[in-house]
Amino acid sequence: MKHLVSIADLSAADIWEILNVSLQLKEELRAGKPRPLLAGKTLGMIFQKPSLRTRVSFEVGMLQLGGHALYLSPNEIQLGQRESTPDAARVLSRYVDALMARTFAHSDIELLAEYSRVPVINGLSDLSHPCQALGDLLTIYEKKGKLEGLRLAWVGDGNNVAHSLLLSAGKLGMAMTVASPKGYECNPDIVAKAKAAAVESGAKLSFTHDPAEAVQRADVIYTDVWASMGKEAERGERLKVFQPYQVDTRLVSKAAREVIVMHCLPAHRGEEITDAVLDGSHSVVLDQAENRMHAQKGLLVLLLT
Ligand code: CP
Ligand code: NVA
Repeated sequence: MKHLVSIADLSAADIWEILNVSLQLKEELRAGKPRPLLAGKTLGMIFQKPSLRTRVSFEVGMLQLGGHALYLSPNEIQLGQRESTPDAARVLSRYVDALMARTFAHSDIELLAEYSRVPVINGLSDLSHPCQALGDLLTIYEKKGKLEGLRLAWVGDGNNVAHSLLLSAGKLGMAMTVASPKGYECNPDIVAKAKAAAVESGAKLSFTHDPAEAVQRADVIYTDVWASMGKEAERGERLKVFQPYQVDTRLVSKAAREVIVMHCLPAHRGEEITDAVLDGSHSVVLDQAENRMHAQKGLLVLLLT
């Protein structure tokens, strides 16, 4: 493992290694015995879009490991505008030990990885959000004690987060059903990759337009905003199309009794998820947000040591 561009590049063993190291680091932190495994190392963080969790969890995670993180705002780098993305990658990687980037085009992450001489981590692109998936897998594992065989229902947009979860489910043998409106399904290339992985793992991946069908017997219900960053112009139209996909108490009651409800956050309360569900007893969204940091620390240690 050299970079983290997509979950598709990882084997099931790679994913488990990241999860196991993350769990160990989380335990050490809880016990008040964090190890400075990345002392003297610097992570450069390129952001073309806003962020709360990704920026703070990477920055604090690096600090806890004895290293340093550098926040590079959209105005500073102006990736691909002030200078070419390959030039930015070549220069930055002379200074820092790893790069994290949040971009619009997924191809920008791929370009950074191609031209950087240090590891590149995808901190969200239009196509995928692998760090989110790693934190989510850690959360599901902690709550349910296993991953293989669990039933995950995705309700809403077939977006970047859905893609990374679908690839994870395919690799790890989880059953995942995606319920999205017509015209808002997952990217066919991602679906093909996830299905190819599923042949080996035995994962069951299915797709529907019916949220009630997707959540039947689900162990995990997951939703995300209806208009992702960069899709703001479509917001009005999407609010109408996605209305039947709201995760409310009625929908949650159709799932397994012990179902956990997940959301990568930020949430638009009253749109894709109601207050009652987001703040209710099934919701694990805050543990999930916290686990972004633990999972990324595991990833950083594996990439840099
Ligand atoms: N879930 C997530 O990536 O949050 P931010 O956009 O706030 O980083
Ligand atoms: N799908 C959302 C995730 C935000 C963390 C977006 O891309 O805006």
